[in-house]
Amino acid sequence: MTPSDIPTRDRLIVALDLPAVEQAEAMVARLGDSVSFYKIGYQLAYAGGLPLVRKLTDQGKKVFVDLKLHDIGNTVARGVESIAKLGATFLTVHAYPQTMKAATEARAGSGLKILAVTVLTSYDDGDLHQAGYRLGVSDLVEARARQAQLLGIDGLVCSPEEAASLRKVVGHQMRLVTPGIRPAGAATGDQKRIMTPARAIAAGSDYLVVGRPVVEAADPKAVAEAILVEITPPLAA
Ligand code: C5P
Repeated sequence: MTPSDIPTRDRLIVALDLPAVEQAEAMVARLGDSVSFYKIGYQLAYAGGLPLVRKLTDQGKKVFVDLKLHDIGNTVARGVESIAKLGATFLTVHAYPQTMKAATEARAGSGLKILAVTVLTSYDDGDLHQAGYRLGVSDLVEARARQAQLLGIDGLVCSPEEAASLRKVVGHQMRLVTPGIRPAGAATGDQKRIMTPARAIAAGSDYLVVGRPVVEAADPKAVAEAILVEITPPLAA
């Protein structure tokens, strides 16, 4: 499937950033048929949430496991194999060549797609310098995106502001998955580089990751449905 064939409903990934499995299951029940794709990250995974991956996929949902793996190749490969067996659709790794190579080899033959995190969006040039890097954020993002593509990585996690320029670097086969999405009028929280759902799709995002604006809403289902309406392409005349 090329990114342009992705059904609109699958483009919204709701981040289940909740402290307990029961709360996550209650949120999934409230969202019902409106949401088909969920993200499970550190908070829920380390609170016993990994079995939820299989439970959700058994219900026909897709799951993005956001554990941003990075370790020696053998350890990454074994971890990727375990996540693939749970039926996950996406798994994140940090964009280091050994890690990406191990991950793409280990997911071969499964339905799992590997997403690379180029540079964490909380890092600026000063943070990279402090961590010992020579390149600044934009050069390192571009260099890692190129490496990711050469190593067979399926997609990149990036800020919506990076989507348009990364699209030029990696073309249309790689999926671009963007957090930092805020429907107009929603609280920004700690996200600094944000875009509305429609603008992020127009900038080249394939998938939108939305957490707090949905899971902390008084009516999460209404917010999710409004996002889907906002990103539904107009019917061809
Ligand atoms: O609540 P909010 O919509 O800001 O949630 C965004 C989700 O995307 C969180 O789960 C966060 O960890 C994740 N994320 C992010 N920025 C990145 C990578 C992941 O906000 N660069």
